[in-house]
Amino acid sequence: MISKKIQKALIEQLNKEFYSAYLYLSMSAHCHKIDLNGAANWFMIQYQEEVDHGTKIYNYLIDQDVDVELEEIAKPPKEFGTLIETFKASLAHEQRMTAYLNDLSDLALKEKDHATYNLLQWFVTEQVEEEATVSEIISKLKIVGNDGYGLLMIDNELSTRVPTNIPLTTTGA
Ligand code: FEO
Repeated sequence: MISKKIQKALIEQLNKEFYSAYLYLSMSAHCHKIDLNGAANWFMIQYQEEVDHGTKIYNYLIDQDVDVELEEIAKPPKEFGTLIETFKASLAHEQRMTAYLNDLSDLALKEKDHATYNLLQWFVTEQVEEEATVSEIISKLKIVGNDGYGLLMIDNELSTRVPTNIPLTTTGA
């Protein structure tokens, strides 16, 4: 059984993961609106990954016999500007998520809760990959600048993203 403090912190993180999903769904809608359907696909898959992240925490709480009480999910923004501005907003969001996960890992260690710490390390590793991927897309968008053809090439590349199988079990297996 995990402590009440850890339970509360994990339920807050679960909420942040579902907010992330909502945020990316809104970014996907925004990309459809500006006729960049490849980017809309990319954000839709990101939305699905965030749902899986939230579900992974949920499954862990259930495994730990926690009586889960879900909170409201905040409304995400609707306007994100150009594609590079949208990806910059995504990177800033992921950097905040990394900070939350680091704080949560610190708390798990302080509480000597190694099972939760182990779960969180999966998330910490995932954050490194997410930040790197988004940074790479931003770099490419900087290279093409205002070149419409280059932007369409990147949009085409983003259209090829397919869902990855995120392990939803708590062991990461
Ligand atoms: Fe689940 Fe992108 O943080």
